Amino acid sequence: MNQDWWKNAVVYQIYPRSFADANGDGIGDLKGITGKMEYLSKLGIDVIWLSPVYQSPNADNGYDISDYQAIMTEFGTMDDFDEMLAKAHSYGIKIMMDIVVNHTSDEHKWFLESRKSKDNPYRDYYIWRDPKDGKTPNRWESCFSGPAWDYDEATGQYYLHLFAKKQPDLNWDNEKVRNEVYKMMTWWCEKGVDGFRFDVISLISKDPALPDGEEYGNGYTGNNCANGPHVHEYLKEMNQRVLSKYPLITVGECPGVDAEQALLYSGKDSHELNMIFEFEHVSGSRHHQNKYGKWDSEPMTMPELREVMTKWQLQLADNGWNSLFLDNHDQPRCVSRFGNDSEEYRVLSAKMLATCLHMQKGTPYIYQGEELGMTNAGFTSMEQYRDVETLNAYPELKDGVGEEKALEYFRRISRDNARTPMQWDASKNAGFTSGQPWIEVNPNYKTINAQAALEDPDSVFYYYQKLIKLRHEYPIIVDGVYELLAANHPFIFAYTRTLGNQKLYVLCNFLDDYVDIPDDISPCLEGEVLISNYTENTKRELKPYEAVVWLTN
Ligand code: GLC
Ligand code: CA
Repeated sequence: MNQDWWKNAVVYQIYPRSFADANGDGIGDLKGITGKMEYLSKLGIDVIWLSPVYQSPNADNGYDISDYQAIMTEFGTMDDFDEMLAKAHSYGIKIMMDIVVNHTSDEHKWFLESRKSKDNPYRDYYIWRDPKDGKTPNRWESCFSGPAWDYDEATGQYYLHLFAKKQPDLNWDNEKVRNEVYKMMTWWCEKGVDGFRFDVISLISKDPALPDGEEYGNGYTGNNCANGPHVHEYLKEMNQRVLSKYPLITVGECPGVDAEQALLYSGKDSHELNMIFEFEHVSGSRHHQNKYGKWDSEPMTMPELREVMTKWQLQLADNGWNSLFLDNHDQPRCVSRFGNDSEEYRVLSAKMLATCLHMQKGTPYIYQGEELGMTNAGFTSMEQYRDVETLNAYPELKDGVGEEKALEYFRRISRDNARTPMQWDASKNAGFTSGQPWIEVNPNYKTINAQAALEDPDSVFYYYQKLIKLRHEYPIIVDGVYELLAANHPFIFAYTRTLGNQKLYVLCNFLDDYVDIPDDISPCLEGEVLISNYTENTKRELKPYEAVVWLTN
């Protein structure tokens, strides 16, 4: 197998809880996924990134693992997993596991032991510290609100949790922990999985001094955990001990990593990971001072988005590889965020965004429902939310900005926007479950659903299918050199890709109106239109949300 096969691949992310429920308990499961393999094969994707399916008490929907080698009871059994894996492979689809090893669940046997006593053999698997002046060891805030430390009466010490209380951080400086992780990963590789997505892997190495970070103005500080002192040493070790032994696809989720540091994680000679997920392009506008972290961020404008994406395209052009995404289980829906989810423009703008992303250099990731143009949840009351980040943030926001405003923030940016059930058809609960779904279905499922999309040749689904096919057929889409055009245009995101004598002109209009194509671009538009969301294209102007790709020779 070609070592770099993942450079030609398109990945599809499944959030199993919300994908398809086979047994009617309202929760998606592995059998549900197995039953949809044909649909995925029709879309044409190469790899499934499976959000965590391991045993978990679900404080964070599986990102809190209590047993890495067992399947979550609600999702099925190991037999169901094997069946799903075999089915995927029979369609030529690979499976990428989500590895969450910055932390475990507090119900993992390591932590149950660790908290028993200071001299327990597992004590040092986690990060324990004495109180400082009767308070937490430092002022770090958890990513899910409140202190990043929890006091444990039994031994009179605090343990670190960068996320929820039920997600204690592992101590990666302990060699035993690293060995356990490599052993577990090897076990999955031997089972035949094809890759790993590493959860918050940039955070695993903590500075032993645990220095306070930037002040937040609410009594807490940020943490300084990204790019810690040993992170590259540990990833190289993991690569040597596990990753290099199998033809895997690997991607590290890397909050706090900039485009230069990205090369350390994923450069050609870094011997760490194939690529990383960065977050600069899905953070809010830089022209806004937030008081409440992500909640009161201002949406990014197209020029800001273009600037960040271009920076990453250029920085990783030769010695590196980008992962391309607009959506995942932690982000609001891209059509609601960067496009236009009104009835008039939803389909057009979803296709435009897809074009803008999929014609770039890198490995594209599609999040379940993105290929249908699924929209934000539109929840209007707190009772509808399930996400621990959202629920934990609510009290402080309610006090600070009031209930109405808090709900407005959540409607715009809560993770639950991505977690409403996959919309399969127009029947009750969108065909996701015959029971009561664990989170409400978006009421727009009657029109936005897979069945309707499959029956409509102009659907977002078939557009994604075509984008994937083009990537598989045209080396220029994989390897072409990226160059930005019309760098200061307020509405058009335009770039070229060049390979040999071939050039792609990718033009995307982010405005709900007609826009003239700049004079220095329009004369270049010759040859054939490879793909567009309109049936007719002119070389003079772009229609509302028009996307067009010209292939010239
Ligand atoms: C990652 C996951 C997110 C999870 C967090 C803690 O950011 O994508 O869903 O809550 O890590 O594991
Ligand atoms: Ca189920």
